[in-house]
Amino acid sequence: MSLDSLRLLGKQFDQDKKSIADRAGLEEIRVRYLSRKSGRLTLALRSLGQLPKNERRDFGRLGNELRQRIESDLAALETRLAAGEDTVRVRSDVLDVTLPGFSPPLGHRHPITLVREEMERIFIAMGYTVEDGPEIETAYYNFEALNIPEGHPARDESDTFYICDGVLLRTHTSPVQVRTMERQRPPVRIVCPGRVFRRDDLDATHSPMFHQFEGLVVDEGITFGDLKGTLELFHREFFGEDTRTRFRPSYFPFTEPSAEVDISCIFCREKGCRVCKQTGWIELGGSGMVNPALYGFVGYDPERYSGFAFGGGIDRYAMLKYRINDIPMLFQNDFRFLEQF
Ligand code: FA5
Repeated sequence: MSLDSLRLLGKQFDQDKKSIADRAGLEEIRVRYLSRKSGRLTLALRSLGQLPKNERRDFGRLGNELRQRIESDLAALETRLAAGEDTVRVRSDVLDVTLPGFSPPLGHRHPITLVREEMERIFIAMGYTVEDGPEIETAYYNFEALNIPEGHPARDESDTFYICDGVLLRTHTSPVQVRTMERQRPPVRIVCPGRVFRRDDLDATHSPMFHQFEGLVVDEGITFGDLKGTLELFHREFFGEDTRTRFRPSYFPFTEPSAEVDISCIFCREKGCRVCKQTGWIELGGSGMVNPALYGFVGYDPERYSGFAFGGGIDRYAMLKYRINDIPMLFQNDFRFLEQF
């Protein structure tokens, strides 16, 4: 190694220095020139002993100067790089308010909830209030005070979930009729939506847990005409103006006379189709004039007051409104289904 080649090494370092872009690059150059084992300058200085004596002094001085210059150049570069990285980091941390936002995922209201709220809206507009009642009920409110005496087939254990003697999961929302009349003097005008339970097998139109919507009106001079007018208006508002309502004679122990409530098939408009089993009509619930026998349980004067009641399956209303042909879909919590509402 000669003095000239030492000068050349200095020039090469100046050249290499320009290509340093980050700390890794800087470290690579440091190793290339200064590493204790294989650094090019380290090796050059180590060869000092092989030089002719008269060259050794100048070589040593130049070599040490070069080492100091390389060290101080690299130290300065390192400081600049660190400052640069800070600047980049600070820049990337700044909140860019012009970036488009992302909307948080929103849930969906369940179709049963949507239908219940729509039903409530229509009845509230007609002056009704919304009542609530317990899902765990006594046999007294679920049966007895509704004129369903002990031994009546409707009390059968094969239809009812009994919790213990005299306590059960309510099989319909009609107990709320009795609870409301106990609390309140006429005029009474209430609706009550809620969950009910029956030992029915799950199929396309039945579920062991489903929802009912009860209505009760008691006042002086209430007639079957009021019942008809109310449900006709409700169905036109809920399903559309051209929906017709039909009442078929039926029997419920708590209403007299009683009627099954049908609406004109919204799929075929009374022409007959698979859904309405070619009849043109679809059954949605029961109704009737409040049986005066109930007034004895709640202390109303049957000579003075009369009333009507109705009860329908919210799930069936939802299935018709949203064209759902399988009741289990309402309870499976499948997002692909629920996201459509
Ligand atoms: C009743 O439950 C009476 N409490 C209704 C009533 C109220 C009559 C007030 C008179 C006065 P019913 O058992 O028919 O009636 O049931 C009413 C409606 O609930 C049915 O028309 C149907 O729409 C729905 N329903 C009955 N069982 C099921 C079930 N397992 N799954 C889904 N919906 C059902």
